[in-house]
Formats: sequence, C-alpha cells, structure tokens
Amino acid sequence: MPEDESINVEAEEKEESAAPKKPKYEFIEDIPGVGPATSQKLRELGYHTVESLAMATSRELEPVGVSEKKSFQIINAARSAVGINFIRADELYNMRKDVLRLTSGSKALDKMINGGLESQTITEFYGEYGSGKSQFCHQLCVNVQLPPERGGLGGGALYVDTENTFRLERIIQMATHLGLDPEQVVKNIIYAEAFTSDHQMFLLENADEIIKANNIKIIIIDSLTAHFRSEYIGREMLASRQQKLNKHMHKLISLARAFNAVAVVTNQVMAKPDQFFGDATHPIGGHIVGHTSNTRIYLRRSSRGPVRIARLVSSPYLPEGEEILKVTENGIEDITEEEKAAKTRGR
Ligand SMILES: Nc1ncnc2c1ncn2[C@@H]1O[C@H](COP(=O)(O)OP(=O)(O)OP(=O)(O)O)[C@@H](O)[C@H]1O
Ligand SMILES: [Mg+2]
Repeated sequence: MPEDESINVEAEEKEESAAPKKPKYEFIEDIPGVGPATSQKLRELGYHTVESLAMATSRELEPVGVSEKKSFQIINAARSAVGINFIRADELYNMRKDVLRLTSGSKALDKMINGGLESQTITEFYGEYGSGKSQFCHQLCVNVQLPPERGGLGGGALYVDTENTFRLERIIQMATHLGLDPEQVVKNIIYAEAFTSDHQMFLLENADEIIKANNIKIIIIDSLTAHFRSEYIGREMLASRQQKLNKHMHKLISLARAFNAVAVVTNQVMAKPDQFFGDATHPIGGHIVGHTSNTRIYLRRSSRGPVRIARLVSSPYLPEGEEILKVTENGIEDITEEEKAAKTRGR
C-alpha cells in the first residue's frame, strides 16, 4: 500500500534529533581554520584524525600557537563532525547502546562484568607477578578478532608492551585453540614496545591514525605503571608522576571513546605495610589510576596451579563479585564443574 508507506516516511522524518546535522570533515585539514601550518602542528602533537581532535581540550592545543578562541572553534568543529554535541538524554541512551562487549575467555568473568569488557571505557587488571595480567592481554588480542556472535568485535588489537613480555607463541597457541588462522591473527595485532614512560606516552599520543587504519578495537597497555614506578622515585616526584599518569589515562580514554574501542591496562600491586588486616596489597598509581579506570579487576593465584581468582573491585554500576577461572596452554578458560567442586572443598 503505497499511501501508507508515504505516511510512514513522513512520520519518520518528523522524528527530529536535537543534534544538528554532522558536517563532513574527513581529514583535519578539512576543518575550517586549519591551514597547512596549523595542521602540521596538530599532527606533531599527535592529532592526525578528526576523531582524536574531537576529544582534545583547548589547553592541550596550546602548543599549536593559535588563540584560545580558535582552538575552541577547531575542537567544536571536530566534535560536530563526529557527532559529539549537546544531545538529548534519549540519544545518550542510544550512544550507550553502541557500547560493545568483548569476551574475556571466561564466561564466569564475562557474566560478572555484565557480558564482557566494555568499549569506550578502561578496564584495569591488577595483581601480583604471575597472577595472569599479561595472559589476559594476550587472550584479549585474540578474542577481539572473533566475530560478534562468538563474543569478539571483529577488529584488531594495539599492544603497548612496556616489560617485553609479549610472546607471539602464546598468541599462536590461543588462536589455534579458538580455530582461528594464527597467521591472520598475528597480522591484526599492532605491537609497540615502550622503552620509557615518555616513550609510552608518545606512542599513545600518536596512535590515532593507526587505530583508524587498522580497525583497532582494543588498546592494551601492559604494564601501565612499570616505567612510571621505576623512573619517578621518592615523594618529591610523586606529584609529577601522578600528573603524567593522569594525562596518559586521559589520552587512553579519549581514544577508546573516539573509536568505540576497549581499553585495557595492567598494574602491579605493592604491599601496604601499615595494613594489618585483610589483603595488604594495593594497586600502584593511587587514586589517579583508580578513578580513571572504569572497571578494576584484581587477579590472584588461588594456590599452585592454573586456577586464578578474579575479583571485580570497582565498577560504575555493578556490584563487587568474585569468580574463579584458569590460565592454561589454551589461554583463559572457565574451570570445569569438577574443578569447581574440588576447589570449594579445598577452601
Ligand atoms: N603456555 C602456558 N601454559 C599454561 N600456563 C601458562 C602458560 N604461559 C603462562 N602461563 C601461566 O601464566 C603465568 C604468568 O602470568 P602473567 O605473565 O600473565 O603474569 P603477570 O600477572 O603479567 O605478571 P607480571 O606482574 O610479572 O607481569 C605463569 O606463571 C603460568 O602460570
Ligand atoms: Mg605481565
């Protein structure tokens, strides 16, 4: 019935959005006011894409040397091009619906975090050496490449390795176990080793183009804090360390939002000698890392062997919880019912 159809089309057109139409700026040079000199400065600062510029603050653009007013105009133009503007609350709900979820490899852990690791936010794994933080990073690089129906995001991974613990052999083992072509899986992981904390920051500040070109859906920093911890020693350096960490985390969250990607960081723990009761270990980085990580998962060994305990320590909207899983040659896996029963008896 053509008449009915035309009525429907009109009705749909009337369903207006509060957001104005997006201007089409594909490259930063397309943005009004960005001439050759400004674009070069922006690129030097690590803004190669309209998406990353949309997440900048005018303070971050100070080194470009344009007026504050012009910075605002450029950022606002980039924001409207990628559709970040004033929006109605129901549209916010729609944006939230864009959040993707990536499987960790353990169904039990996925369930505890509401279906998997969230895009647009940072998930932090912290724990002692050997607790499985880097194993999770490897597994997530593989899982992200799975199709959505298998809990993946059909995208690639960006891996910033600060301790030289990335092992291709592990990726191949995990990919093979999942029935993926290891050769293809390896091609979809962009790897960078960070030699110092400044280098680590530099890598992330210049990652936007690589993320876009390679359809990166997970950004991993393993470990977030190791370089900072060894370079900034003593009380007098604490403030500058925290300031840098804050900037680094801010960049990470901007990239995760701009490209709807999952962001994962790992963090070691330090003993807190003044605490006598409970678990006397705390993640490094203090409240800066804690407040910018949206989901924090504490990993620990249960005893000798492959079993690990994952505790959801903080989440903006989920209750605390604890699950057990295992790290095997296959990667991160759920424990079997028998193993679970044995574990409960052993407690
Ligand atoms: N091929 C494998 N098969 C079975 N288990 C493995 C394999 N590779 C690693 N593991 C397990 O993972 C552990 C190492 O974990 P991982 O490297 O993730 O620790 P981490 O938390 O990153 O520690 P660090 O703080 O030192 O970086 C090993 O001790 C072992 O138990
Ligand atoms: Mg590690």
